[in-house]
Amino acid sequence: MKRLLTGLQPTGIIHIGNYIGAIKQMRENQGKFDSYLFVADLHSITIPQDSQKLKSNIKSLIALYLACGMSPEKNTIYLQSDIEYIPCISWMLECNTYYGELSRMTQFKDKSQKNQNFSAGLLTYPILMAADILAVDADYIPVGKDQKQHVELARDIAVRFNNKFGQTFVVPEPLINATGMKIMDLQDPSKKMAKSSENQKGVVNLLDDEKTIRKKIMSATTDSETSVKYDPQNKPGISNLIVIYASFTGKTKEEIEKEFEGANYGTFKTKVADVVVQELLEIQRKYEEYINGDLIDKILDDGKKKLLEITRKKYVDMKQKLGTTR
Ligand code: TRP
Repeated sequence: MKRLLTGLQPTGIIHIGNYIGAIKQMRENQGKFDSYLFVADLHSITIPQDSQKLKSNIKSLIALYLACGMSPEKNTIYLQSDIEYIPCISWMLECNTYYGELSRMTQFKDKSQKNQNFSAGLLTYPILMAADILAVDADYIPVGKDQKQHVELARDIAVRFNNKFGQTFVVPEPLINATGMKIMDLQDPSKKMAKSSENQKGVVNLLDDEKTIRKKIMSATTDSETSVKYDPQNKPGISNLIVIYASFTGKTKEEIEKEFEGANYGTFKTKVADVVVQELLEIQRKYEEYINGDLIDKILDDGKKKLLEITRKKYVDMKQKLGTTR
């Protein structure tokens, strides 16, 4: 079975755009791959973090993924910083990567321009990511467009290392999510729903309470017509709500247009809010169970044990090849 690896930064908020665009698909693909799912906490400290908040975000993220139906039986789930060999492997890869390759990375260029006082970690970030990937011999890496370049760098590093020192790493491939649906901001349907959005009124978070969810959906921007028709060009707001409703109900756009023929936007929005609330409340119920139980610790302990074994082998192999050994 091919190995799939997904790394997630513990940045706090997950919204229905992430849920519809990525998590649902991950859930459906479970069992088709030998899947590794980890929290990239070492990546998140490339920029300053509040330690208490980071700690609680890590646990919260894992609880949310479990609550969304990611199964600990079908995925190896772990915390990056629990696996001590990864930073060692990262260093060894760093010494086989050129400064120029790192300084050319688009994300580095963007982020280092925004803040002149950036850490060295911001520059070497993609190598730590390569270490995550290469340490476990992952075949496929599902990523958004913003991370594709980093996976390509991991490929280059793997190929170079293999050529120089003999076969050591599987050369990974990025999997760009082609079928994932794009959910737009409810207030401004011309842009993607994003956790960085200034106006959080347009962003429905998985942990929003029922009142907030309803309010955000009921006040979504629409248009001056009255027909529930899918037409992203001319009716971006209504079309976005149709996509959301379709995703939560499994209905097609045509079925939805029929269902709401002659109905006004208020009626339609209420129905959208109903199905979103229903599903999110169920996720929240499970989330509370995980947050308050001890299953997360057990899952992470199991993941750590398995990953230490895998990554230690890789580390020892690299040590032999590099000559950093007695
Ligand atoms: N850099 C990724 C992000 O910000 C997270 C990540 C870290 C990752 N290591 C990875 C993703 C390895 C895939 C594979 O989204």
